[in-house]
Amino acid sequence: MKAEDVTFDFLTDSGTTAMSANQWAAMMVADESYAGSRSFHKFKKAVTDIFGYEHVIPTHQGRAAERLLFSVIVKPGMKVPSNNHFDTTRANIEAMGAQAVDLVIPEGKIPENEHPFKGNIDLARLESFCKEFKDKIPLGMLTITNNTGGGQPVSLENVKGAAAIYHRYGIPFILDACRFAENAFFIKSREAGQSDHTIAAIAREVFDQADGCMMSAKKDGLVNIGGFIALKDSEWVLELRNQLILTEGFPTYGGLAARDLEALAVGLHEVLDEDYLRYRVATSQYMAKRLNQMGVPTVLPAGGHAVYLDAAKFLPHIPRHEFPGQALACELYLQDGIRSCEIGSVMFKEAASMELVRLAFPRRVYTQSHFDYILEGFEELCARKNELRGYKIIEAPAFLRHFTAKFERM
Ligand code: F0G
Repeated sequence: MKAEDVTFDFLTDSGTTAMSANQWAAMMVADESYAGSRSFHKFKKAVTDIFGYEHVIPTHQGRAAERLLFSVIVKPGMKVPSNNHFDTTRANIEAMGAQAVDLVIPEGKIPENEHPFKGNIDLARLESFCKEFKDKIPLGMLTITNNTGGGQPVSLENVKGAAAIYHRYGIPFILDACRFAENAFFIKSREAGQSDHTIAAIAREVFDQADGCMMSAKKDGLVNIGGFIALKDSEWVLELRNQLILTEGFPTYGGLAARDLEALAVGLHEVLDEDYLRYRVATSQYMAKRLNQMGVPTVLPAGGHAVYLDAAKFLPHIPRHEFPGQALACELYLQDGIRSCEIGSVMFKEAASMELVRLAFPRRVYTQSHFDYILEGFEELCARKNELRGYKIIEAPAFLRHFTAKFERM
């Protein structure tokens, strides 16, 4: 569908940020030198100041960082544990012939469970997993916040626990940090003893536990394109830079224009603004609360970047093989011009454990008035939800069918 035919675009929070005046201003003074540009050094300084990692390798987005790192350190038959791997992370691990293993806590799989840190990794299972397979684990990961599990945060205590286990078995610990500022805000507001600390201090303490991170800067970098790998030690750096030159570009731009690096250097600082983060998290919590009050069930508590609607519960008259999530996503567009995304049986086929619809919120784009308008639409939808029909697939590719399948209403 053409984006201009969409009124509220909640397909993703990735690369859809509205950039600030300061970011645009920084882009105007970018130094587009092929090698060693001033803009790279500004970007590197921002990453090192905030994350504390000395070695910084730019990439054009998150999955390029994943492919690069895994191609250097992951070998066939290996295993990579995390709370939940994001789709592209999993696919890039599997592309190396290795296995991506999800060890999120049991509460993280129950939509209505209100555990404050549903993104936590199960430390007991991680311990026994590392003990059994330590020679086959090239790195251990944690995704902050846990996108696949509903944008749920990981506590500082859990990060420390995972770090202790990984390091006890000599396993490098790499964070998938694309929503690190939202995660730090949740730690500040929910974890005992953290309320007096700044977002920057909390984020830094999280990063201090790990050996490095990969980041899709299209989220908490507040930019439309960009990513990076940042590492404490230099062990992998030479090989990563050589591989980077092969596919992304010279190590001081890595597939980006210098103006993108300028915008990112500013965005990484802006995202630490606590007022911005409070407004953002309050928005998704407000949406979830109002939706629940009118009888639209959601994953609880609301995540940082998105609200996940429970379509199976909302539309019990549509059986799973008729795709209740797809039915809801289509109706949201037809009624109010809202673009969302099914995360259920269309996406995962028989492996789907839930029938969800994700409303992911672009950063600094929508205001309270937009959300109130959308909530009025949901009230109308609730009144006539029994009229909604299921869908059948009339055309689908063999792999990743949710991107291109065609449907017909029953
Ligand atoms: N890791 C996580 C946790 C992500 O959410 C994403 C992207 C990536 C890695 C990959 O980064 O898109 O820059 O290559 N998530 C987007 C989403 C696409 O809509 O959730 P990328």
